[in-house]
Amino acid sequence: ATKQIPKEKGLDQSLTLLNEGYRYIPNRRRNQQSDIIQTRLLGKKAILISGEEAARLFYDENYFKREGVAPRRIRKSLFGEHGVQGLDDEEHKHRKLMFLSLMTPERLEEIKKITMQQWKKKIDEWKERDRVVLFYEAEEVMCRAACEWAGIDLSEEEVGQRAREFGQMIDAFGGVGERNRRGKRARDSSEKWIQKIVKQIRANKQKPAENTAAYIISFHRDHKGKRLDTHTAAVEIINVLRPIVAIGRYVVFGALAVHDHPETLPKLRAGDDTYTTMFVQEIRRYYPFTPLLGAIARKDFHWKGYPFTKDTLVMLDVHGINHRADLWEDPDVFMPERFKEWEGSPFAFVPQGGGDHYMGHRCAGEWITVMLMQTSLEFLTNHITYDVPEQDLSYSMVRMPTIPKSRFVIRDVEERE
Ligand code: HEM
Repeated sequence: ATKQIPKEKGLDQSLTLLNEGYRYIPNRRRNQQSDIIQTRLLGKKAILISGEEAARLFYDENYFKREGVAPRRIRKSLFGEHGVQGLDDEEHKHRKLMFLSLMTPERLEEIKKITMQQWKKKIDEWKERDRVVLFYEAEEVMCRAACEWAGIDLSEEEVGQRAREFGQMIDAFGGVGERNRRGKRARDSSEKWIQKIVKQIRANKQKPAENTAAYIISFHRDHKGKRLDTHTAAVEIINVLRPIVAIGRYVVFGALAVHDHPETLPKLRAGDDTYTTMFVQEIRRYYPFTPLLGAIARKDFHWKGYPFTKDTLVMLDVHGINHRADLWEDPDVFMPERFKEWEGSPFAFVPQGGGDHYMGHRCAGEWITVMLMQTSLEFLTNHITYDVPEQDLSYSMVRMPTIPKSRFVIRDVEERE
């Protein structure tokens, strides 16, 4: 028998979503006592879903597609037009393979080495400074590492600007007004820069190594054997660079976790791989980054007795799933050890999406993210010491994406022997 999906009242909840941020879906779940809720977003009917089974459904491509999911304001700032995020089926799988081909063990080892070198180059400068704002430094270090690894020339004069622009694209996600406009301007400027480089690479005027993202994407052929147009190639190169810069946010949350849980410091310093991996996984579970993801129903169907109609927007409760009491013991406690026994369901732990990397839209950069978080934490705990002065380290659960208000200020930086 068909069940009725509990319905949220009101003409449109887009403003409620912006006003409640990471708590938007969890609040609806609590009010309606349901893991499936019907509402209206951006003027259209939408269905919110949460839970492991819901994630499994969300990643079933027989039922959902991605084309047309991201609204214009997100495409113009965070994602770019015609990138992998909005592709489906054969075209998506072919493009996705291009990204995944960048992630060989050798290339991962390389970005790890590059990133540690870039962090270490900061030490002398930091020792001289009264205060260092870790968030902006982390974005800059990640930007330098990303460009070096991807085969993109980055002059010393432009590092600050390029890092800031990637940061602004990421920051635009839940921003309205000026924050969103800043993200759009950053994207325009970034795309212009990278398109010029794509043209030069294709004309053989710049020669990045053949295993770099710059080379592979510039010469990639789509599922029909055609080269990407220069704009799409730029969008996809930015889809490698920008999310590496985004790791800077997790680095700041990592520093915050160490600060709030000083008992973890000796364990991190001991350099035991098992512990640092658990610690990094717990950062990705505990701290908010991606609030939710959207997909569109391909057809009419029933799930658990509930009717879904073709073309309905469905939103998955990403941050909420990582904090569900039926999936995580004491979900709101920061506890790296929980990952010791963890069996690794691809639908219960979804900070960077769920399901299969090759078959679906799950993040292509999860390995890089985990590795560079470990490398960055190793730098912060083993290669330097610092003080954390009085400051407002709280972070909003409304702002998307969120970050500690003070951006994590450190001082009295010393090199650690
Ligand atoms: C997709 C999060 C780092 C490349 C995604 C998705 C999320 C995500 C939530 C969407 C999953 C879906 O649509 O189902 C993050 C976070 C990161 C991060 C929080 C770190 C802070 C990276 C890195 C790279 C990367 C380092 C590449 C070097 C991609 C690409 C996609 C993607 C190419 C599109 C995949 C597709 O549509 O098939 N990421 N990501 N990400 N990510 Fe990441």
